[in-house]
Amino acid sequence: MRSEPLPAWQPPATFGEYRLLQPLGRGAMGEVYLAHDTVLDRLVAVKFIAGVAPDEAQRERFRTEARAIARVQHPNVVGIHRVGEVKDRPYLVSEFLRGDSLDRLSRPVPWTRVLEIGIGLAKGLAAAHRQGVLHRDLKPANALLTEDGQVKLLDFGVAKLLDVAMAPAGPARLPGPRAAPVE
Ligand SMILES: Nc1ncnc2c1ncn2[C@@H]1O[C@H](COP(=O)(O)OP(=O)(O)O)[C@@H](O)[C@H]1O
Ligand SMILES: [Mg+2]
Repeated sequence: MRSEPLPAWQPPATFGEYRLLQPLGRGAMGEVYLAHDTVLDRLVAVKFIAGVAPDEAQRERFRTEARAIARVQHPNVVGIHRVGEVKDRPYLVSEFLRGDSLDRLSRPVPWTRVLEIGIGLAKGLAAAHRQGVLHRDLKPANALLTEDGQVKLLDFGVAKLLDVAMAPAGPARLPGPRAAPVE
C-alpha cells in the first residue's frame, strides 16, 4: 500500500475574533499570517507552530516565546497582544509590522541606515537584557525594518528567561512628605 504524504496543517480561515488574510512569513519553527482582528478592527500578525502537531516541549517553547516578548515592552521589540489555541494548535498574536525583515532589504543599504538599524537592535536587546530576556537567535530574518524606519526585534522562539524581580519599575523609595506628585 502506498502511503500518501499528509497534507500540511492549515489554520482555520477564521477563529475567535480573527480572520486570516494572507501568509506573512515562515521560519524554522513558525508560520506567520496577517489577520484582521474583527473586534478591535485592526491588523495583527498570528504565529502558529508549523509542521506536525506540536508536542509538549514545543508548546512550552511557544509559551516561553510569548512570555519573553510580553516582559520586554520596548519600541524596538515587537508587541504581543495575546496567546491562544485553536484546533490543538497554540498561536500567538502580535502587532502587525508593516515593512521588511532585514534579510529582505534591497541592497546596498546606505551606511546611515545601517547605523540606525544597529542602534535600534542594540536598544531592543538592551531592553530585553534589562528584563532578563536573552534572545539567542539574532539574525536578519528575526528583525524587521518598518515603513516608518523603526527596527523591531522579532522571534523570541528560543529565548531564555532569567529570573528577575517582577516588582514594577518606578521610584524605589519615595522622598519625604514634600515630594512632588509622582506622574
Ligand atoms: N509581527 C509581524 N509583523 C510582520 N511580519 C512578521 C511578524 N512576525 C513575523 N513576521 C514575518 O514572519 C517571518 C517568520 O517569523 P518568525 O517569528 O521569525 O518565525 P520562526 O520562529 O519560524 O523563525 C519573519 O521573518 C517576518 O518576515
Ligand atoms: Mg525566525
